[in-house]
Amino acid sequence: MTNNPDSPAAGRTPVLSVEHLTKSFTLHAINRSVESLRSVSFTLYEGQHLALAGASGAGKSSLLRCVTRNYLPDSGRVVFHDRTEDGSETDVDLTALDDRSLARLRGRRIGYVSQFLKAPPRQGPLRLVTNAALRRGLDLELAPAERHEKAREAAKQSLLRLGIEERLWDVDCSVLSGGERQRVNLAAGTVSPPRLLLLDEPVSALDPHNRALALEVIEDLHRHDVTVLAIYHDMAIIRRVANRVLLMQDGVIAADGSPGDVLRAGHAALEELVA
Ligand SMILES: Nc1ncnc2c1ncn2[C@@H]1O[C@H](COP(=O)(O)OP(=O)(O)OP(=O)(O)O)[C@@H](O)[C@H]1O
Ligand SMILES: [Mg+2]
Repeated sequence: MTNNPDSPAAGRTPVLSVEHLTKSFTLHAINRSVESLRSVSFTLYEGQHLALAGASGAGKSSLLRCVTRNYLPDSGRVVFHDRTEDGSETDVDLTALDDRSLARLRGRRIGYVSQFLKAPPRQGPLRLVTNAALRRGLDLELAPAERHEKAREAAKQSLLRLGIEERLWDVDCSVLSGGERQRVNLAAGTVSPPRLLLLDEPVSALDPHNRALALEVIEDLHRHDVTVLAIYHDMAIIRRVANRVLLMQDGVIAADGSPGDVLRAGHAALEELVA
């Protein structure tokens, strides 16, 4: 893999096209409107690990939330270019998809690791991650019992790799610590790698030891052909795991390129981040 997203050697099959995305919020209490995204456009290609960087309020989370459709944009499109196992390609406009199809797509083809774990009540990490693996369609050709066993085994490996020990596997997720939740979330997002993985500050709550474990898992994603769109606040992490950076400022893209180029370029938008 090359570090230059524009070089011909980089994967040029598009996975996600964001087209003129605009999002504003009306703050009724003070009768003001905030434009969090102003005609943002970019294409994410297969094999890219794209980091969103920028100061607080630049629009990073708004962008990710428009892709997961937690926010509906005011205008613009978010097109997911899917490719099935038989090689056929379909384009899906995520902003126009019905809720059921979107939920299915999110479970199977698009992973999302939010900063906060949303587990159904009385569900332990092992069940949560096993269910995530099953939803992803792990080994669909197997008989159900065998498939379940395989998903469970994959879930155990995934949890162990992220330092979630066996004593925590059946504990209700709601009693886990913030760092444990974040790792369970990451295990669910990566257990059976999706085509596109969205990560919102996936290591922010982790101590150095667990952060190192999580970064290894994240770094490994490219070996599984996962395309990643992620928010990180730490420039050292961006340099380590990403091969492309979008630097955002006031709802627009201020720079787009390899971490080496963008983070070296001395953009005003970088000043607060690399101080
Ligand atoms: N639900 C919302 N209601 C009102 N304003 C919002 C909402 N979500 C985002 N905004 C506003 O949009 C702008 C961009 O916010 P966003 O959360 O996308 O920033 P960010 O780059 O993720 O910042 P941070 O690094 O602090 O997480 C901010 O001015 C924010 O206040
Ligand atoms: Mg944010």
